[in-house]
Amino acid sequence: MGNSRSLPLPPGLALQQQLDAMRAMLLTPRSPISPPGGAKTANPPPVSGGAPSLADAVSWLSAEVGRRVGFAVNGSVRTKLEKIAGSQPPGKLGSWLDHLAGLDSNDPEWLSFVELLTVHETYFMRDPGQFDFVRRHAMTRVIAEQKTQPRPALRLWSAACSTGEEAYSLAMLAVDALAAAGEAVIDATGHVRTLRPWVIEVVGSDLSRQAIRTAQAAVYHEFGLGPFRNLPQHCWRFFERTGKGDSSIEGGASWQVHPDIRRLVRFQQFNLLNGPAPVDQANIVFCRNVLIYFDAAGRRRVFKLIHSVLNAGGFAVFGPTDVPDDPNLFKAHWGPSTVIYQKG
Ligand SMILES: C[S@@+](CC[C@H](N)C(=O)[O-])C[C@H]1O[C@@H](n2cnc3c(N)ncnc32)[C@H](O)[C@@H]1O
Repeated sequence: MGNSRSLPLPPGLALQQQLDAMRAMLLTPRSPISPPGGAKTANPPPVSGGAPSLADAVSWLSAEVGRRVGFAVNGSVRTKLEKIAGSQPPGKLGSWLDHLAGLDSNDPEWLSFVELLTVHETYFMRDPGQFDFVRRHAMTRVIAEQKTQPRPALRLWSAACSTGEEAYSLAMLAVDALAAAGEAVIDATGHVRTLRPWVIEVVGSDLSRQAIRTAQAAVYHEFGLGPFRNLPQHCWRFFERTGKGDSSIEGGASWQVHPDIRRLVRFQQFNLLNGPAPVDQANIVFCRNVLIYFDAAGRRRVFKLIHSVLNAGGFAVFGPTDVPDDPNLFKAHWGPSTVIYQKG
């Protein structure tokens, strides 16, 4: 791989990483992250059963959210916590905290609470430069290796997929790359046919059950700065129009992902801090724009998880400020303005 080189990091990323780490140290409660399985709290609420102050309630909630989902509680999450805790009926704050403390981390009520704190912003082919580099340096290499196998396979994971755009983008990238390698044909209406029995498995997972339901429906609306803002022209063949809406008005035209792409992708709710992972022997894993919310320990844990599910030589793709701090896990490959990582 001609463009590949190892760390040191360019100054911009290193500085950002230092700022992130400092912010995490300043804002992160010191309680340990919950063990896999999502145990109930080991951290009793303040003034259990009584009337805690709003400040105490928010500190306790921050610690719980950090412990159970890895968030480093920063300004915007703290503001949301203050609003939610402040909206409890008078005299009920203590019993509400007791109730939350008794819930398992996978309990629907706890997950609904956490969903109020998360951001689901995403779109197809988000960060085109990174997708392009993945295609040229990772996907083509994986396909070339797999081609020589008796049962070639492509296993891809979008590890915080939100409403599914990233997972479907990965599936589109994969079939395009297979076609370019002479392993598949795609017609103008988006029908995909592989020329040999390839196993293509794309998994999208996210903490949010609501986001996963949207991802499974695979219907996306075209308006404003919507999910299609970065979609290259040739990828429109992977969508079928549903309904008769007008794309110039909100709630107008909507499109469903083509069945030949949908059948390659499955979705499941999964908390990155509560293994086991929904894939194994993955060739490429995307985990972007989520670790920025995690504290340093949570990030480290996710880097290790991703390393463990990749097959030898598999690739990991993170957000621009997410730099694995353990040099034994991955080797960095630098593109023009992006970096991807390969399991060593
Ligand atoms: C900003 S979106 C990123 C979506 C996509 N990866 C992208 O880059 O466009 C962040 C997603 O991370 C999810 N998330 C937050 N904490 C998580 C956790 N502990 N485990 C799994 N997903 C989590 C949120 O529900 C949200 O959908």
